[in-house]
Amino acid sequence: MSDELTRLKSETEAALAAVSDLKAWDAVRVSVLGRNGSLTALLKGLGALDPVSRRERGAALNRLRDELTQAIEARRVALEAAELDARLAAERLDPSLPPLPSPSGLIHPISRAAEEIAALFGAMGFRIAEGPDIEDDWRNFGALNIPAHHSAREDMDTFYLAAGADGRRPVLRTHTSPVQVRTMLSAPPPIRVIVPGRTYRADHDATHSPMFHQCEGLAIDRGLTLGHLKGCLIDFLRAYFGIGDLPVRFRSSYFPFTEPSMEVDIGWNRKTGELGRGGDWLEILGSGMVHPKVLANCGIDPREWQGFAFGMGIERVAMLKNGIPDLRPFYESDLRWLRHYGTSALLPTMLHEVGA
Ligand code: PHE
Repeated sequence: MSDELTRLKSETEAALAAVSDLKAWDAVRVSVLGRNGSLTALLKGLGALDPVSRRERGAALNRLRDELTQAIEARRVALEAAELDARLAAERLDPSLPPLPSPSGLIHPISRAAEEIAALFGAMGFRIAEGPDIEDDWRNFGALNIPAHHSAREDMDTFYLAAGADGRRPVLRTHTSPVQVRTMLSAPPPIRVIVPGRTYRADHDATHSPMFHQCEGLAIDRGLTLGHLKGCLIDFLRAYFGIGDLPVRFRSSYFPFTEPSMEVDIGWNRKTGELGRGGDWLEILGSGMVHPKVLANCGIDPREWQGFAFGMGIERVAMLKNGIPDLRPFYESDLRWLRHYGTSALLPTMLHEVGA
């Protein structure tokens, strides 16, 4: 390489080493490779040479151009990395700051109700569990002590799917109760979970939809009694509906997977729809002590562990709480309805302290 080229190379390298930001870097790049850059000028000068010297000089210049292009690019990468490091060191995120108010976008009443339920049971030590919408017959029915040919299977208007390789037909889960089974099989007690999720039944009118949402609850521990079940649900219902003295009635009932089983009613006025007074009763959830056979089916010794379970319709509690008369608009994506019944994302979900 001629002295001239060696000098250009070392000068450029020194200039690159001296720059400390991308702006200065770009100035160096332009001064060498730009239209009026020093290397560009040398390349332009090739035309004036005789063919032999042009070939030699041309090869040397091309090599130099490759080297300089590489050095310039490497410097850019290094500068960008340094700038990012500096930004990361300088900028601090404060996750405790409240979010900026958002001008649009509301929480759907189903999501809102599920969040409120989760917050209230969360305060009582329950965590959220989930399961798939497509279940096998055993988890949706069998393990829950609902035998084959039992009327509960017809009552639930089950959607069956095509049979798999084993000849069994999977189902769209008719309730969230199969997640009780999944939870008990996945880890040993004690257990406290709630299970919000989609459920399916072949049924459609103003108060029934083929797809709807339920929230299951399951608590398994040593020495859990009906008293725990009642206290837990009374606290929840009063906090959820925001009525401190909401009348709550436990009415003897039947579910194959609980023994004893109870339907839970709240006090309301049938004519006006007002909750809390009026002398009428409205059924709001199913509950009971987990049947010993269900515990045994799920590998839990019923002589050592007891528990309670409950299940409620999420749309149903949301409708009652918000005075929504019809179920169908929940799924129709009508913006007028959504704006009317939606909730700001900034509204705290914790309603008030349970039992306060
Ligand atoms: N799975 C029942 C239903 O869908 C509700 C329920 C859950 C009842 C848990 C008792 C215990 O109707």
